[in-house]
Amino acid sequence: MAPLKHNKLIDQQKIAKRVHELGREITSFIDRENLKDELVAVCVLKGSFVFFSDLVRAIDADLATEFLGVASYGDGMKSSGEVKVTLDLTSSIEGRTVLLIEDIVDTGLTMEFLMKTLQARKPRKILTCTLLLKPSALKTDFKPDFVGFEIPNDFVIGYGLDYQGFYRNLPYIAQVQSLN
Ligand code: IMP
Repeated sequence: MAPLKHNKLIDQQKIAKRVHELGREITSFIDRENLKDELVAVCVLKGSFVFFSDLVRAIDADLATEFLGVASYGDGMKSSGEVKVTLDLTSSIEGRTVLLIEDIVDTGLTMEFLMKTLQARKPRKILTCTLLLKPSALKTDFKPDFVGFEIPNDFVIGYGLDYQGFYRNLPYIAQVQSLN
């Protein structure tokens, strides 16, 4: 694939600082709300694997980890609006507090779908955290409980986020300038 022109939007230091703040915010929230028992952090694959691994290490609580594969995009840069589960959880979430960790909320359709799917499994509570939120792209009423950064409605890559399966290993987040 020809290299994509991109500009750095959020550098590594800024990401690390914010992830640690989010870890502290989530830790205090679950302490305050008494949600420490039976906590399970769910990584929404594939895009969240980098953020997830940093964030769970910044949360000071006993937690189990689970992975949920979801496909909502084709190979392009626009949301297809179609969401399907490609890999399911391996344990029950009934009665447990779920911390759903997403890389980016764009239209919100993926999170709306996941909330419905997971609520049907009767968890005690679902908390949602996204590293990035594009407020002007939202097409649903979905509101994450914890947000790392609000960003403009541009396509971004890096720190787990891909274009056609590539760029997930960029250590920073970059805005794609154009496809050529
Ligand atoms: P939504 O359903 O439109 O909110 O999209 C959520 C999913 O689309 C994310 O989990 C990403 O996989 C993908 N996505 C949305 N915006 C971007 C982007 O700017 N770069 C890379 N992937 C994106």
